This record gives sequence, structure tokens and C-alpha cells, in this order.
Amino acid sequence: MKIAWGITGAGHLLLESVELLEKLSKEHEITILLSKAGEEVLKMYGLFERVEVLAGGYYRELALEKDQESSFPITGRLSMGRYDHLIISPTTSNTIAKIVHGIADSLISNAVAQAGKGKVNTYIIPVDMESGEVQTVLPSKLELDLCQKCQICEAAAACPNDAISPGVEINLLKCKGCAACQQACPFEAVSGGKIITIYMREIDVKNTYKLNNIDGIQVLNHPSEIKFD
Ligand SMILES: Cc1cc2nc3c(=O)[nH]c(=O)nc-3n(C[C@H](O)[C@H](O)[C@H](O)COP(=O)(O)O)c2cc1C
Repeated sequence: MKIAWGITGAGHLLLESVELLEKLSKEHEITILLSKAGEEVLKMYGLFERVEVLAGGYYRELALEKDQESSFPITGRLSMGRYDHLIISPTTSNTIAKIVHGIADSLISNAVAQAGKGKVNTYIIPVDMESGEVQTVLPSKLELDLCQKCQICEAAAACPNDAISPGVEINLLKCKGCAACQQACPFEAVSGGKIITIYMREIDVKNTYKLNNIDGIQVLNHPSEIKFD
């Protein structure tokens, strides 16, 4: 089976999405599409290399939004119906807002639009499904209440990407999620995978609900619900 899998810049359900992508890529030809934020966030959570390694060969490409410029030529395959399924998981509220308003100016929103034109069945796994609280996981974070502002910061010294400003913050755009800083700090002042509660915005939940009215799109709660007919 030929599948196109889009990843947007959401931390929520990201690990679960990557785990299923790894499993499915053993049996299927999967073209992976990464939004610019998707690429950044995968790196922050230390998952980019796990995705990168799955690519290789025709229909098994890793397509980065930054290389697809403004017209996203790779999505032409979707408008020609070359894939059996398009999966977007996880899907940010930003990309969902674009999809429900018919906007196609990013790699992933464009992929969904072209899949509609090519009658490619599309699964969308949104991160914002229901109103209220949701638990989500953070990438590496400098915990300032634990940081002792040491003269020589062991965490910064251990970082291969020079991502840590000691006593200030971690530059997540430089962080590759390797966790060396977490192991190096003797005061455990760098957390990784911390769970926090966030609150869903009504506008995002409403947009997700509107996805159900778009032909050819199936909305699922979790990547594990993907079942091919
Ligand atoms: C660490 C991190 C985690 C994020 N997690 C989410 C998330 O779970 N859901 C969401 O809607 N946006 C999340 N964002 C914000 C999106 O990345 C941002 O809105 C981005 O512009 C989305 O672009 P895209 O929809 O093209 O991928 C996160 C950002 C960061 C830095």
C-alpha cells in the first residue's frame, strides 16, 4: 500500500504517531511529509532521526516543507490519486484551521486539499478534540527554581548543539532532544518529558468538529485507531 504521512508541529501525540509510522513503514511504502514546525518539533523531542531513517527510495521520501517551496510539487501525487491513504498525525490546531477554511498554503494543508481532489482517503488525528483540560508533554526545559546558576554549567557544557544559555533557558530551535543536559546537571535542573495541563480553546475545538463535514476525511482520536479497509 502507498501511504503519505504528514507530521505537523505538535508535541501532543507525536511519540505515538512516530511509533505507528515506524510500524507501518515495515509493510507499506510511506512518503513522509514534514511541516516546517513538524521538523523543528520532532528535533526538540529527539524524534527526528527516528523518522529520517525510515526514508529511502521512490515513494519512501522524506519531504521537508522548506524544500517544497511555495507550490509543494510532491502533493501533485495526491491530486493524481497515487496514494491509497493520506494520514496527518499529529495535526496542529493551526493546520486544522487552514483545512476547514479551504486554505492550502502550507505543505500539509496543501496535501489535504490535493488528496480531496484525487479522492485519496484522508485520516486526520487532531490534537484539539474536546473542550477543557488536556495533558501534554514538554521537550527539555531548564527548571529555574532548581538551577543553582553554577559558574560552570555542566548541562551547557554537555550540550553538543550549544543550545543552553546557563541560568536562562534552552534554545529549542538548537536543541536536538538528546537529553545529555538532563544527565549532566547534578541538580536535576533540566527536565525532559514533563507533563503539563493546557486548556483547549473553543475556536480550535469548533474547527476540529467542522472537519467531520469535509468529504473524504475521517477524524480519529488517536493514531492507534487507524484501520485500513
Ligand atoms: C515544543 C512545542 C510543542 C507544540 N505542540 C503543539 C501542540 O501540541 N498543538 C498545537 O496545535 N501546536 C503546538 N505547537 C505550536 C505549533 O508548532 C505552531 O502553531 C506551528 O506554527 C504549527 O505549524 P504547522 O501547523 O504548519 O505544523 C508546539 C510548539 C512547540 C515549540
